[in-house]
Amino acid sequence: MARIGILTGGGDCPGLNAVIRAVTRRSFHRGYEMVAVHDGWRGLVDGDTTALSERETSGLLHRGGTILGTSRTNPYKVDDGVPQVLRNFAGAGLDALVAIGGEDTLGVAARLFAEEQFPVVGVPKTIDNDLSGTDYTFGFDTAVSICTEAIDRLHTTAESHNRVMVVEVMGRHTGWIAVMSGIAGGADVILIPEQPITVERACDELRKRHGRGKSFSIVVVSEGYKLTFESGEQREVTQQAELDQFGHVRLGGVGEQLAQEIEANTGFETRVTVLGHVQRGGSPTARDRVLATRYGLKAADLVHEGKFGQMAALHGDAIVDVPLAEATAELKTVPPEWYDVARSFFG
Ligand code: F6P
Repeated sequence: MARIGILTGGGDCPGLNAVIRAVTRRSFHRGYEMVAVHDGWRGLVDGDTTALSERETSGLLHRGGTILGTSRTNPYKVDDGVPQVLRNFAGAGLDALVAIGGEDTLGVAARLFAEEQFPVVGVPKTIDNDLSGTDYTFGFDTAVSICTEAIDRLHTTAESHNRVMVVEVMGRHTGWIAVMSGIAGGADVILIPEQPITVERACDELRKRHGRGKSFSIVVVSEGYKLTFESGEQREVTQQAELDQFGHVRLGGVGEQLAQEIEANTGFETRVTVLGHVQRGGSPTARDRVLATRYGLKAADLVHEGKFGQMAALHGDAIVDVPLAEATAELKTVPPEWYDVARSFFG
């Protein structure tokens, strides 16, 4: 009999519950006990854990959010945090942990494994799709679908009013959501952190388009895009400069500033929509439900096989495992080829 803990850390995203369902279903079948670690790493720092029943972990496939709760607690930034994690893990009688998270949560898992031989396996979660070692994280497809639907809706009102619509999407320091939803929604300009084209260049593209007889445009901007000007000035827009326990600023607001620049530069009437946390809410898409389910089963198998320090990953169409250390070594940014696809439709 083994006892397996499970936690979800960092920003929530659609599909977390589907992973929990899959991990627990397979592990219960093997006769293992499952334990909920509440609110990410905070649950192990504070010893906040409870036994999970089969009943609690069914009916979750379509449900957004996470029944376990989540937080951005970093045990390495809390006094006595790591010793407390180790003590509480042992105190709860746990033999293994499944950590479902992005670069921050899994970065902690990778370090605990490397430095403490902590028996942990990872599942790659984030709407940002910025985790290395896997082709896609779950949650991303849902966020892209939500943004695409919003862009479609903004098209019709933009056309009626002859306006430029700026849509600000999440993604932190990578432009995956912006590029994919921008391509899918037919955006006329897409601005991302990896390829910071200038504001003047974006305005030229809009003028070119309007010169071809179009009277409206859609601009998708990623929250992490720094307003970049021909003068060489670059401006990061944040809501809160204060850093969280993982060293991140809270991004947001670039859309508003970009809209003002576009209106002043082109004279086109411009409006802004910030999609915000809507991108993380609600039910996962079918694709994310399937991916989350496959990841969950793989994580349960990794625990069963004692393959700790590994993360479930998608390579092509196959679910494989990769070292957590490799997955968290660097951010996965949008490759130039993807941006070229988007750029072919600018202006
Ligand atoms: O990492 C997911 C994400 O939604 C980012 O895209 C965004 O920058 C951040 O989390 C927002 O964080 P919070 O939930 O703390 O507002």
